[in-house]
Amino acid sequence: MLTRKVPKIRSSEITSESIYLTRRKFVQQGVIAGAGLSFGSHANAGLQSNDDITPERIVTSYNNFYEFGTDKSDPAKNAHQLTTDPWTVNVSGEAKKTGKFAFEDIVAGLDRQERIYRFRCVEAWSMVVPWVGISLKEILQQFEPNGNAKYVEFKTLVRPSEMPGQRGIFSSIDWPYVEGLRMDEAYHPLSIMAVGLFGKELPNQNGAPWRLIVPWKYGFKSVKSIVSIRFTKRQPRNTWNLLAPNEYGFYANVNPAVSHPRWSQASERRLPSSLFNPNRRPTLPFNGYADEVASLYSGMNLAKNF
Ligand code: MTE
Repeated sequence: MLTRKVPKIRSSEITSESIYLTRRKFVQQGVIAGAGLSFGSHANAGLQSNDDITPERIVTSYNNFYEFGTDKSDPAKNAHQLTTDPWTVNVSGEAKKTGKFAFEDIVAGLDRQERIYRFRCVEAWSMVVPWVGISLKEILQQFEPNGNAKYVEFKTLVRPSEMPGQRGIFSSIDWPYVEGLRMDEAYHPLSIMAVGLFGKELPNQNGAPWRLIVPWKYGFKSVKSIVSIRFTKRQPRNTWNLLAPNEYGFYANVNPAVSHPRWSQASERRLPSSLFNPNRRPTLPFNGYADEVASLYSGMNLAKNF
């Protein structure tokens, strides 16, 4: 993992050519670790020398965001319809500070950092994405969760007038899209809310104005365009688990040893990938972040808690 502080300015003002060039150089030279870009003890986490950053046009045009359609190209076509300013977030449950908050007020004053993470979908494709992120722990702690808060649940906006996938008669999802984490997962230093990518404001199709990123889990955990945060005692349900409980679990830790009924998880296609150059590579336990996160699950049966 690489980290870098991004200046605290409105994300639309982030200009990043120099940041981007520097970062590319790091990746190309395989100088992934440290080099003054440290973030606690996690400076050396994650990336390998063959982890080239996925081209921006792929990251922003090959998407899963069912609120805008089920085809990978639908979100880039349709998400411009979404109004992301103003953006209100409802905070509820087991915390001292609850209520409605403006997105800007929640993130104001918090550090933005560049985090280059592997991103692995349960459909067995993967990317390497340079997110602009904010520590999830710092965000959540502002609301002062109490001792009963064992889990945190996140929900996406429901606004069928701007989200064509929510009005489709074929839509089988019970909106809103919902996801959750255990509090210790949410407080892990690798967990972030992404507010940008490639040094720029987060495009709507990638979950503007903010979306969750938990790099050791399958991409379906990384709920987009969040309008609700709820602290809870009990494990929340999550959208794909509600749809097919024997296919998608709550934990969704990347695990080459536990296959999905339709996708072997033993290997993955790193995008760009084609028939002649599939760019296939073995999947790593916890998506390559085992040193950082495996201890969160010690003693747990990961085949059962998939
Ligand atoms: N969040 C919402 N609200 N709706 C979705 O359909 N899809 C998930 C996740 N977050 C999804 C979502 C899935 S399956 C994946 S793989 C990632 O978003 C894709 O993120 P990306 O489009 O930025 O690559």
